[in-house]
Amino acid sequence: MSNDLAVRVEDLTKRYGRLVAVDKLSLDVNKGEIFGVLGPNGAGKTTLIEVLEGLRTPDGGAVSVLGFDPRRELEMIKERIGVQLQSSSFFRKLRVVEVLNQFRSYYRERADIDELLEMVALNEKRNSFIMDLSGGQRQRLALALALVNKPDIIFLDEPTAGLDAQVRRQLWHTIEQMKSAGKTVLLTTHYIEEAERLCDRVLILDGGRRVALDSPANLIAHARGRSARVRFATTKPFALEPGASFQVIESSRNGNYAYTAQVGNTGRSIVELVSAIERQQNELVELQISRATLEDVFVELTGKEIRE
Ligand SMILES: Nc1ncnc2c1ncn2[C@@H]1O[C@H](COP(=O)(O)OP(=O)(O)O)[C@@H](O)[C@H]1O
Ligand SMILES: [Mg+2]
Repeated sequence: MSNDLAVRVEDLTKRYGRLVAVDKLSLDVNKGEIFGVLGPNGAGKTTLIEVLEGLRTPDGGAVSVLGFDPRRELEMIKERIGVQLQSSSFFRKLRVVEVLNQFRSYYRERADIDELLEMVALNEKRNSFIMDLSGGQRQRLALALALVNKPDIIFLDEPTAGLDAQVRRQLWHTIEQMKSAGKTVLLTTHYIEEAERLCDRVLILDGGRRVALDSPANLIAHARGRSARVRFATTKPFALEPGASFQVIESSRNGNYAYTAQVGNTGRSIVELVSAIERQQNELVELQISRATLEDVFVELTGKEIRE
């Protein structure tokens, strides 16, 4: 295994009875990158992470973490991986600093508690009881706990699930700081925006299978031309004509009649749209073209929308 690789997954298959949760999956995670696994519920994200953490045995294929097999050589990697625990399992009646100290004591390498608190912005809460923390503060504590042993690789399973947009942004910042500190982060998410903004590379996983793997920019670039979004508004209702090369996916009434269309060939669709509007003796009052987002790519590749 190359020294630049943090994680290698080759042809991994994991079944639960007859259900194939991960299906012949291969991927490499480079050292120092934020690698995202994006997929809807049931895609196999948690299963993948748990195999890498040595909690589940593969049924086929092989995985290695820093060159070691997590199943047989867990001792070799335990000190070097950071694992995020579910916040519900925290000891409610312990203080933040006590929990951190306790988890720290399990390891040879120990991070500085003040630095950790600083990084997750929980300095002011160091003496608070866990039960008095908000959901977002608990998630931040979970990140700090994943860092107590100064790990090289951090596994985060949906670190921002259920948090509001502002708290999610704070956590992104913390995860970016981990990367700046030279760490490798492998995270799962079902938030497309999170994958697009945060990750160097994204694996799109669906039904345990790899649908795509690339940087968000490349994923979007490959889809561009095939999918862009056009928003337009007319003074009267607009009727899509038979054989149109684009598709209206949303319409609303807000003074004018507003539409969002998914287009393949942007130029051709705009020409078509404008002449249809003229033929219908309607009037175009607004027109906006935006490039494809990772969400468009996701829908195109999986035929699914991810909804929170
Ligand atoms: N312990 C288990 N026993 C049986 N089926 C499971 C178990 N854990 C997960 N599954 C199933 O495996 C599939 C993948 O689950 P999971 O890895 O949790 O996906 P995700 O984290 O992407 O939501 C799902 O269909 C799920 O219902
Ligand atoms: Mg999961």
